[in-house]
Amino acid sequence: MEKVKSFEAFKNLQLLLKEETFKEDVPRLRTCTGTACMAMGAESVIHKVEDEAAHSGKHVDIVKTGCQGFCQQGPVMKAEPYGYYYKQVRAADAHDIVVTTFSGGFPVRNLLYRDDILSEPKEIMETLPFYKKQMRIALHNNGLIDPRNINHYIAVGGYAALVKALESMTPDQVLEEVDKANLRGRGGAGFPAGKKWKHTKGAKSKIKLVIANGDEGDPGAFMDRSIMEGDPHGLIEGMLLCAYAIDAQYGFVYVRHEYPLAVVHLKLAIKQAEEMGVLGNNILGSNFSFTLDVREGAGAFVCGESTALVASMEGERGFPRPRPPRLSDIGGGAWGYPSNLNNIETFACVPHIIVKGADWFKSIGTENSPGTKVFALTGKVKNTGLVEVPMGITLREIIFEIGGGILDGKKFKAVQTGGPSGGCLPEEYLDLSVDFDSLSKVGSMMGSGGMVVMDEETCVVDVAKFFLSFTKEESCGKCPPCRLGTYQMLEILKKITSGKGEPSDLDFLDEICHKVQRGSLCGLGQSAPNPIVSTLKYFREEYEEHVHDKYCRAKVCSGLGTYTIEHSECFLCGLCKQACAFGAVKETRISYFIDQDMCTKCKACYMACPIGAVKVGKGTAKAARI
Ligand SMILES: Cc1cc2nc3c(=O)[nH]c(=O)nc-3n(C[C@H](O)[C@H](O)[C@H](O)COP(=O)(O)O)c2cc1C
Ligand code: SF4
Ligand code: SF4
Ligand code: FES
Repeated sequence: MEKVKSFEAFKNLQLLLKEETFKEDVPRLRTCTGTACMAMGAESVIHKVEDEAAHSGKHVDIVKTGCQGFCQQGPVMKAEPYGYYYKQVRAADAHDIVVTTFSGGFPVRNLLYRDDILSEPKEIMETLPFYKKQMRIALHNNGLIDPRNINHYIAVGGYAALVKALESMTPDQVLEEVDKANLRGRGGAGFPAGKKWKHTKGAKSKIKLVIANGDEGDPGAFMDRSIMEGDPHGLIEGMLLCAYAIDAQYGFVYVRHEYPLAVVHLKLAIKQAEEMGVLGNNILGSNFSFTLDVREGAGAFVCGESTALVASMEGERGFPRPRPPRLSDIGGGAWGYPSNLNNIETFACVPHIIVKGADWFKSIGTENSPGTKVFALTGKVKNTGLVEVPMGITLREIIFEIGGGILDGKKFKAVQTGGPSGGCLPEEYLDLSVDFDSLSKVGSMMGSGGMVVMDEETCVVDVAKFFLSFTKEESCGKCPPCRLGTYQMLEILKKITSGKGEPSDLDFLDEICHKVQRGSLCGLGQSAPNPIVSTLKYFREEYEEHVHDKYCRAKVCSGLGTYTIEHSECFLCGLCKQACAFGAVKETRISYFIDQDMCTKCKACYMACPIGAVKVGKGTAKAARI
């Protein structure tokens, strides 16, 4: 690849690539090759489509894109120029795709999405409920381009923001634009990027660094991975703009090593960008130089915390340290150099702000939280995956429209936002605006974008236990309130969910939560009690049921309740008896019953009964014997 040495030459190249790369009317299959779709066989579909196309003498342009969001339905792909959106495609479907779609112009109907078996199929991606309300800024290029091909990125307008900045804006103007856009950090706290950039710029040091936080340790989160895998040049361009604005010379992307595809794509993108001259020394013939490298972390959640991240980058143990100095101060960043740390999604928004302007960005979202946010929508909703929505959308719209509502017609119970540091919100907040301030006002948080939906069969005490077991494992152990507090909180939750809870446990839990929040050094400890605090606040009666009535209304916690068989429902199949390892299910000539003295409340009979005739009730009722 020849180096591009001037803005003019770059613009000419861009014009050429725009014309040549994605010509309209060319039969094209934009196939997702994100991690989930690859695991579900995307590669074999691609090979088969290539074979079938060659066999029928048809040229099909195959674009291997990053994650298109609807991973649950993978492998997914778009057939152009028709715009047909196919889901759950198998290699065996390749023949139909080539013959029916690319030769005949018709959709392959069994590959189209339907809300349910009786509903009309949706032909076009944008008409699917999952995509209808989404708006893509950070994920703009996922699903559009091959992330391994810099020409694709340039063809869809990539590096135009860099050229605009270098050619016609001073570094201060770039910084002002980002500040005016009120771009708030997407990594958790929502701190305004412009303010952080200004602070780093103000540090009196010849050398400054730009660091992208790709640690993404929240369980179930994959927003940042999808950007690094699906649009690495978008991240690089965002970092370049930051470096130009704050006069930084070196940059690092810190990625957890469990993200191998992200590392490969980032390294390839860096190499291509250097070869093209948009990264490295004298970028596009200008005086601006910026060198970028990738640093792999070992995958500790705490290494996403800024000071621990820096320690890990330096090759030290990933321990947080007190601030000041902040990362942006002399002595505070990596190797002591002032460093500007932002989240991957934060950087991915920057090129769009520079090209379209702060006013455009502010026209999306809410006044205090402009723009969009990417969420990993999971749990008991019909449609799960990666969704990017304008801030200000309601939880109800995300869960019931994009997510398609609760699975199996069950009732909504709660939604957990913000990952292990977030909170559980009940039904009364379904119409809450999703933005930084509204979520934290009611005891949850935006976090980096985890969103777990729970139905009536989810036990909130068990959910709090799940998150606590995560934070307890991930606590680095440096400070006692977090090290001992997370352990103690988890022990109490285990006690409560196993039916051994005592009334004093709830007050004790409350007290430890507040002590851990106040006494911990870093955000991990400070926010670890959030799942307990929010569930105690909104679902206290369920904690009380566990403690006083020895009852879990969601029937999740074993060791609680009284197990009986409802004889009017039982059709005497005997499966519960087979399932019980303790011989507690007894048989008479006309019925089965559960011997309460022998029952360990292990739930095996409850799970085994195909018709729900095994009931779990409150209290300690005696066995119902007929
Ligand atoms: C325990 C812990 C883990 C964190 N993990 C991440 C992470 O994986 N990614 C991230 O961007 N920020 C993470 N953060 C927040 C970072 O410390 C930092 O605030 C953020 O990267 C700054 O970028 P932003 O301003 O663009 O959000 C974490 C914070 C804590 C306390
Ligand atoms: S709060 Fe927890 S994770 Fe943070 S420094 Fe203290 S012990 Fe380590
Ligand atoms: S499994 Fe259910 S239906 Fe079968 S014997 Fe037991 S209670 Fe009756
Ligand atoms: S990996 Fe294919 S849609 Fe997410």
